[in-house]
Amino acid sequence: MRHVIAHTAVYVIATLLVGGAAAFGTVRSRQLVIVDEAMLLSRHEPATAHEFEWGDLGAYGYARNCANCHSPDGTGWDQYPPLRPIAVTFPAEAARAYLIDLHLYGLSSARWRAPMPRMHHVTDAELAAILNHVVVRFGGADAAGDRLFQPADIAARRGQGIGPRDVDRRRPAP
Ligand code: HEC
Repeated sequence: MRHVIAHTAVYVIATLLVGGAAAFGTVRSRQLVIVDEAMLLSRHEPATAHEFEWGDLGAYGYARNCANCHSPDGTGWDQYPPLRPIAVTFPAEAARAYLIDLHLYGLSSARWRAPMPRMHHVTDAELAAILNHVVVRFGGADAAGDRLFQPADIAARRGQGIGPRDVDRRRPAP
């Protein structure tokens, strides 16, 4: 009988140790990921408009949120449009608005066989950086001369209560 109790105790203790280690490892690695991401995003939160360093954040944000569908260099494939034709309409006012709105509210048109899902969860800073990445690196906008996107431009267009088809109606002719 003592045998059985001793064995059971050993199993229980071993299970607790292994389980605890696994749980600790999982929580710890999730924390690390969150902390890294928060650090990266906060580093790019600008103090003033002139200090908005969008370069790395734009490349990172594009790779994370867009490249799957539009391909890493923005050329698109299958049902996903290339981004250069619309990026070159920047910096016209209508194009600026359209580029922001299609991310905040989604886009549904007859031109492509799929809609674009809305990406309103992306932060103002990350979305502004991604849009600069698109218009400068794919559309050839002048990073020094053109009025690029600022986080405040994104914030100003949130909360319009419009949908993917309204966005399509506002699309500027490329
Ligand atoms: C799940 C796939 C998917 C993801 C992810 C995605 N898009 Fe799209 N995107 C589409 C589709 C599909 C369309 C075309 C929708 C339509 O016209 O109905 C589109 C349209 C666009 C357009 C408009 C093109 C035009 O000619 O009017 C732009 C600009 C764009 N996407 C940029 C982006 C950017 C930048 C990201 C990342 C923040 C992104 N997309 C993420 C699928 C995606």
